[in-house]
Parts: sequence; structure tokens; C-alpha cells
Amino acid sequence: MKTRLFDSRDAGKWKTQLSEAASILRAGGLIAFPTETVYGLGADGLNPEASVKIYQAKGRPSDNPLIVHIAGQEELDRLTDYVPENAKKLMDTFWPGPLTMIFKKKKEVPYQTSGGLDTVAVRMPDHPVALALIRFSGRPIAAPSANLSGRPSPTRWQHVYEDLNGKIDGIIQGEDCRVGIESTVLDMTSEEPMILRPGIITPEKITAVTGGKVSFDPALYVNRPRDVSEGLLEAAEGSLPAPKAPGMKYRHYAPKAQMLILQGAYDDVYRRMAEMTIEEEAKGKKVGRLLFSENDFEGAARDFFAQLRQMDEAGVDLILAGALNSKDSVGFAVMNRMMKSAGYHVLQV
Ligand code: TXA
Ligand code: MG
Repeated sequence: MKTRLFDSRDAGKWKTQLSEAASILRAGGLIAFPTETVYGLGADGLNPEASVKIYQAKGRPSDNPLIVHIAGQEELDRLTDYVPENAKKLMDTFWPGPLTMIFKKKKEVPYQTSGGLDTVAVRMPDHPVALALIRFSGRPIAAPSANLSGRPSPTRWQHVYEDLNGKIDGIIQGEDCRVGIESTVLDMTSEEPMILRPGIITPEKITAVTGGKVSFDPALYVNRPRDVSEGLLEAAEGSLPAPKAPGMKYRHYAPKAQMLILQGAYDDVYRRMAEMTIEEEAKGKKVGRLLFSENDFEGAARDFFAQLRQMDEAGVDLILAGALNSKDSVGFAVMNRMMKSAGYHVLQV
């Protein structure tokens, strides 16, 4: 398949470019597009055949539901009959933005889109290109991150090209993503809202709006830190409680290189990383270091996936990454991804 490139950055042409891309979506095709979080791989969310193509292109397990993207709150009526009061408050505050909410789905939402579940995840992205594309298509757009399943999420259009060129109908070239990690996924179907995937819309921000409690899916706390002082161990994938977001159970975000997280005080981690680099390079390994400024959690979120891909491109064999402080909610969200990328290999220093 030939993948067409569209350009949203040209002020003179963006409208015609996006209308063409939108007509491909209406015809059941696949178009990757920028959002504020990561690039998404879009298809008509109400067309079962179109959704199935997403799974094929990404190599994604079919039980992993897609997020449906809308451009206005009124479009929610096409997807669900019941929106709780708290959800209304949250969407007034955070939409458009990196918050996905889960509702009971209408029967018009195909099981191919909802991964076989009776619920549907919905978000309104805070990005002019994404919003225009959804409006022009006239459809709710199902879109997972536009990477091959298991690879780091794409925060630049070039990452989408690396993974999906030749497998999808088109890619909309845009700017680099400003958030860098995927949206917070919040289940609104239970009495108390529950975060199934952490993101930059934190529990503190959510409770400030609802005035009530918000919980985390208990599976998120099991971060299985493994002390690998004795050498790199294989993570015990089988021994986890099942997370409520099916996608959270898969090994994700994996760079090609082996990856090890160093956890401890910043200066100790810095020193140990330098020592280990010398040791490992003496063994002939190419080592990449990933150490973010101590309290810039949003900066770490923005750059994390892009840096993993850069290390792969540089042919790094071993990535040494400094753990972020998980007491900060954005730090916790980045650590959720970092732990998975590293297969839960952690060294306490
Ligand atoms: O920021 C984002 O959310 C990006 C951009 C493109 O919008 N999209 C994204 O989609 O990250 P994806 O498919 O890579 O991740 C969706 C996550 C998965 O973990 C999936 O299992 C979960 O949301 N999810 C989707 N629908 C769900 C549902 N009905 N119930 C539980 N979890 C659901
Ligand atoms: Mg994804």
C-alpha cells in the first residue's frame, strides 16, 4: 500500500490537505494524525471494518479497545446514552485535552471498536489539526497511538512513518507532540471514578473538579521493582493482577535495546550511571543514558518516548535510565511507561 503524506503545517494548503484525508476516513481508510499527547492512527469509529484495519496495521491484539475521538461535546450522544454529572464537570474543565473517559456504549458503537466490551472510551483532543480532521470527516474517530504494537508511542510524524509507512493510507505531518505521553484514562462507569492509565490530568486535578474521591486501578501500583544487583533478570510477566484497561497488560513501549532503571538520590544515580557506562563500554557495549532534570516531570513526559526511539536509532545496546519521583503524579505517569519499557528491571543505588 502506498502511504500518502499530507501536510498540516502549510497555512495555505492545510484545509485542502485535511479535507482529502477526511474523505479517506469516511471511505473506511486509515489516517495518522497529530494530537497534543501522541500521534493517533484514525479510522471511522462506527465502521467495524475500518476499526479492524487498525488492529491489522498495528499488529494489535483484538481485545484491546480503541479510544474514540470527538470534536464537540454534542457528539457524545452518538456513543453513549448516559453521561454522569461528574463526567460533565470534567469535560467542561478538561476537554479539549488529555483526558479520556469511559462510558457505557450505545449499540451503534461496534464491538470491533470497543474491543468486545460494553463500554466506550472517549476523548476530545486539544489539537487544531485533530479537531479539524474529525469535523471534516463527520465521524467519531477511533484512534490508538500510531505505533506498531509494543513500540514506543510516536510523538513526531517521522516515528509514525518509521512504524507504519506502507501499512496505512496516509500520515498527516504536523508538529512534535507537546504532552508526549498518552491521555489519562478514567473509568466513569463505577460509583467512584477510577484511573486506569495515569497521565498529565492527575488525580489531584480530577478531585479538584468533582469534589469527590478518585481511585487508581490497583494493578497500577504493582510496579514489581526488581533489584537486579545480581545481573539482569527476566520480569515475571505472568504474576500480575489483571489491569482494567486491557491495553495496560501488554509489554509496551519497548525500545530495541536492553533497559535498566536506576533508582535512588539524584547524585547517586548520576554517579552510578557514569561508572556503569565505563564498565559496560569496556565490555564492548554501546550505552545510552536517560536522566531527566530532577523536578521537570512534564519535560520528562514530553521527551521520554522520543528519546527511546533516538537511542534505538543510535544503535544503543543498553539504556540506563534514572527513575523519576513517583510521589509526583506526573512523575508516576512517566514511571508507569518507563517501568514497562525496561521490563521492570530496576537497580536500587
Ligand atoms: O492520548 C491518547 O489517549 C492517544 C491519542 C492518539 O489520543 N491514544 C491512545 O490510544 O493512547 P491507545 O489505544 O494506545 O490506548 C488506549 C488505552 C488502552 O490501554 C486501552 O486498553 C484503554 O485505553 N481503553 C480503551 N477503551 C477502553 C475501555 N472501554 N475500557 C477500558 N480500557 C479501555
Ligand atoms: Mg498505545
